[in-house]
Amino acid sequence: MQDYILNILVIFESILLLVISLILFSKTRDLTKLKKYEEAFIEEQAKKHSEQNEFFPMVIHELRSPLSVISGAADLLIKTTDELSAEQIHTLLHQIKSSSSGLLKVVGDILDISKMEGGKFQISETYGDIRDVLREECGYFEPLAKVKNVALSCPVSGKIPSFSFDSDRVKQVLNNLIANSIKFCPEKGKVVVNARKDARSVIVEVADDGVGIPDKDKPMIFHKFFQASNQAGVGEKGTGLGLAICKGIIEAHGGKIWMEDNKPSGVKFIFSLPIK
Ligand SMILES: Nc1ncnc2c1ncn2[C@@H]1O[C@H](COP(=O)(O)OP(=O)(O)OP(=O)(O)O)[C@@H](O)[C@H]1O
Ligand SMILES: [Mg+2]
Repeated sequence: MQDYILNILVIFESILLLVISLILFSKTRDLTKLKKYEEAFIEEQAKKHSEQNEFFPMVIHELRSPLSVISGAADLLIKTTDELSAEQIHTLLHQIKSSSSGLLKVVGDILDISKMEGGKFQISETYGDIRDVLREECGYFEPLAKVKNVALSCPVSGKIPSFSFDSDRVKQVLNNLIANSIKFCPEKGKVVVNARKDARSVIVEVADDGVGIPDKDKPMIFHKFFQASNQAGVGEKGTGLGLAICKGIIEAHGGKIWMEDNKPSGVKFIFSLPIK
């Protein structure tokens, strides 16, 4: 009888030990999980901090350059008005005007990016014909393309139904894509803006036969402030916010934006907008 009780006690003790080990095991797993969460959180914070550290100097630099031009030109106008010819005054006023427009663009872009990153970016969709937007944008860039001796065409073919989209924001996307294509095209280059309908969306393409984008830079191209490495001295230097904003705008519509090589040279930026 005593042996029997002893055996039961031994079995009971083993079960107890097993339960305790299971509890301890699951706790350790919980702790490991917690530790992993903690490490991921710290890593995320460090990333945010380093992005902010990179973001502010870039922003300040982008604001400081046009502001120095405005301030310098205004100084000259104030101090030496009597000595300046009408033509010189006109040049200085022109510098002030174009630098303040540049400044406004950078400020607008920074505002858009921070709204996108803070999840506060909104679009306002209305029913319309995207072909009108494409034609308007091509018309707007016609003079710049002529100056650069680039052939800009907009041969929108085929039927495209009207649908809901934010036309001002889509214009902003086209503005950047067409401006980029013209900027990175050599003289006598070609830029083609086109649109077509597929099963559930409208696809818009901006293709050029310019300098293209090196393979190693492709994964970074939609990141803010990124500029490709093959373009030193090509075109006017921008801020590097344009494509990040394009991506935010297209994704806010529920669409996608991507790039492809344009054979034999240049690139093609393509975006899709769902037909709603
Ligand atoms: N069509 C293109 N051909 C070659 N490179 C391009 C083209 N479009 C964009 N890129 C590369 O991608 C970079 C980022 O483009 P993005 O439009 O974001 O910035 P940006 O034009 O330099 O400045 P911003 O648009 O803010 O004034 C460009 O600096 C350029 O290196
Ligand atoms: Mg750009």
